[in-house]
Amino acid sequence: MAAQIIDGKAIAQQVREEIRRKVADFTARYGLAPGLATVLVGEDAASISYVTAKNRTCKELGMESFHHPLPAETSQEELLALIERLNRDRRVHGILVQLPLPRHIDEKRVLFSIDPGKDVDGFHPVNVGRLMLGEALFPPCTPAGIQELLIRSGTVIQGADVVVVGRSNIVGKPIAVMLVQKKDGADATVTICHTRTRNLEEHTRRAEILIVAAGRPNAVTGSMIRHGATVIDVGVNRVGTTESGKAKLVGDVEFASASEVAGKITPVPGGVGPMTITMLMRNTLRAAELQVGARA
Ligand code: GUN
Repeated sequence: MAAQIIDGKAIAQQVREEIRRKVADFTARYGLAPGLATVLVGEDAASISYVTAKNRTCKELGMESFHHPLPAETSQEELLALIERLNRDRRVHGILVQLPLPRHIDEKRVLFSIDPGKDVDGFHPVNVGRLMLGEALFPPCTPAGIQELLIRSGTVIQGADVVVVGRSNIVGKPIAVMLVQKKDGADATVTICHTRTRNLEEHTRRAEILIVAAGRPNAVTGSMIRHGATVIDVGVNRVGTTESGKAKLVGDVEFASASEVAGKITPVPGGVGPMTITMLMRNTLRAAELQVGARA
């Protein structure tokens, strides 16, 4: 039997409605809308499309967005000076610096300079530490979106065998930490696999929940999946263009064979992607509530 598709677009729409109402309440109460500043250095096509989508979603939900596109030659000092200004700007509640940055800029130095109270990506060490402790203010957006998809698709997480393929700081490590917490929507037994894992299939085949963030098309195929498992495909791989000239996207999971075996599966596009942006909006609202609420 073919797997049930987890419709990330529809679930994201539901969550966005909830956020839109809270944004309207916030704006009516405090006389200013939650605001997100986005910073993009250079002209990478994928990064431009992500940042454009983030700004558009802000507007759709009634939030302010302040976009700062900078030339690829921008110096580290100029970028740090901009972040310093945004840290002090009271209309800006969240700051997002789109990654990757050009090679001449020290990514860590930049991310560590963002006020942790405005770090809606959750990449600052203070926020990474809070996540580890189960005290996150801003859970990183892609992992938060994955957790929300699991919860809202009715997947049993408590006690489940979860296997994560990929150990990045943006997805693999934080989702593993989130799902192992002693909390509702977590409480799983988690294994992290990576490029040095011996016999990957041995691990993936026992997963009741399989989260694939390997960054490689077809990293997981049907024969590597346990019958009835929930499969979350985090991959975004651009493989040529569609007939209408848009980038054609595939995930890290070979969808055709995987959907024959899995119980539930996320498509690419339309799975994790829409949830990631939605969680960014949720974090921005939370940042605004913390900053303005604290002053009110
Ligand atoms: N580039 C790829 N993913 C992300 C993300 O979650 N946040 C930022 N800022 N840049 C990214």
